Amino acid sequence: MPIQSAYELLNRSLIYHQGRPVGTAAACDESVVAANYNECFVRDFVPSALVFLMTDRHEIVRNFLETVMHLSGHQHVMKGHKRSLGLMPASFHVVTENGEEKVITDFGDRAIGRVTPVDSAMWWMILLRAYVVTTGDRTFAEREDVQRCIADILDLYLRERFESSPTLLVPDAAFMIDRRMAVYGYPLEIQALYYGMLLAARELLVDSESNKETIDDLTAISNALVEHLQHYYWIDRKRFNQMHRFEAEQFGRDVVNVLNVYPESIPGWMDGWLDARSGYLVGNVGPGRIDFRFFAQGNLLSILFGITTGEQTQRVMNLYHNRWDELVGEMPVKILYPAMVGEKWRFSTGSDPKNVPYSYHNGGNWPVLVWPFVTAAVRVGRLELAEQALNTMTKRLKNDNWPEYYDGRRGDLVGRRANFFQIWSATGLIIAHEVLENPESRALLDRALINGLTEGGN
Ligand code: GLC
Repeated sequence: MPIQSAYELLNRSLIYHQGRPVGTAAACDESVVAANYNECFVRDFVPSALVFLMTDRHEIVRNFLETVMHLSGHQHVMKGHKRSLGLMPASFHVVTENGEEKVITDFGDRAIGRVTPVDSAMWWMILLRAYVVTTGDRTFAEREDVQRCIADILDLYLRERFESSPTLLVPDAAFMIDRRMAVYGYPLEIQALYYGMLLAARELLVDSESNKETIDDLTAISNALVEHLQHYYWIDRKRFNQMHRFEAEQFGRDVVNVLNVYPESIPGWMDGWLDARSGYLVGNVGPGRIDFRFFAQGNLLSILFGITTGEQTQRVMNLYHNRWDELVGEMPVKILYPAMVGEKWRFSTGSDPKNVPYSYHNGGNWPVLVWPFVTAAVRVGRLELAEQALNTMTKRLKNDNWPEYYDGRRGDLVGRRANFFQIWSATGLIIAHEVLENPESRALLDRALINGLTEGGN
């Protein structure tokens, strides 16, 4: 009974504050020495929250939203910076000192490598909307402190800096991939979340004269962003051919090769990788630079949030079908493809032994990614792919004690440094199972994620 055990594991992971459940730990692995896996990570809590919403345990999600909101609402000075109120922590946990409970946060001030969690506030906003849509509790979102928090986040994320495109510029390791992996700049996952967050915020902000300008701004940015992603990030045979013959050094407004990408920079593995019916969104785009790696989470969230067009979505699914061994293998789903090797790995990761080729963030297989995969596949009518993914993993995951990730080109080895009893491996499986087996859960998730509403699904 793998699903039953997944639920038991989830229940064991609950974190309490003043008697109320407020989050879930990242892992319940007694043998873990790594310091922070007993903390509640905002991004890891998302699949937990979706399970709670599907099983009528809404209050945990609300408690979480409130707790994180209060943690971020205080101004702290960090190494000379006044930390922005809109920044949310990567994780938090509760400790008892002298009989009193204290919530300890990590805004990147304790994290390995001191990385900044740019994705946390975006997930918070998306989750707040999911909570409101599934419970109908609009009063919560309209509370003054919640509206204040939304405004603080938007103040940070919409702030004008030095941009010439609608995408959000972030440092390396600002999201699920939270170690150096050459993902600085404009990584796809961040852009997809940004779009999801802007749509969510537009629905959550109360309609008032003072919000009018913000709503206009975020509408303009989200429209420009989706166009930008569909054009500059999208690659299929046709576009690839164009790039292959790109002229460079073009100056002026009306040029084709706007970003000045040299065709010589196209990596060798791309040759023959795309057939005439597939396509995907590339990993990162910036001046003179296209990162052609395929990032699963960014592509799948783009499908769920309605960034890709109908045709593009089918092409991404065709790619999964054609390249199943590379992109899914024996454990759904590979985080990125292909891995960085040799000098590139040494230079880009800082010789990180955890991120050697086809391990962890560098092309490892992550069971948690099965939930966006199955949800996206089912949404666009590719049931056979969804079923294949779920069948591949169901028994194995429990027998292997819910590892955090798998290693190897085919993802057939338990990750060398993986935690066991990793909560989002279990919640990923529960969601995928629910989406396939339970029409009510499927409908709920459809509404809870942005696309459901923009299509008039609510
Ligand atoms: C690792 C992952 C990160 C996750 C955390 C807790 O740091 O890279 O995405 O949130 O573990 O599971």
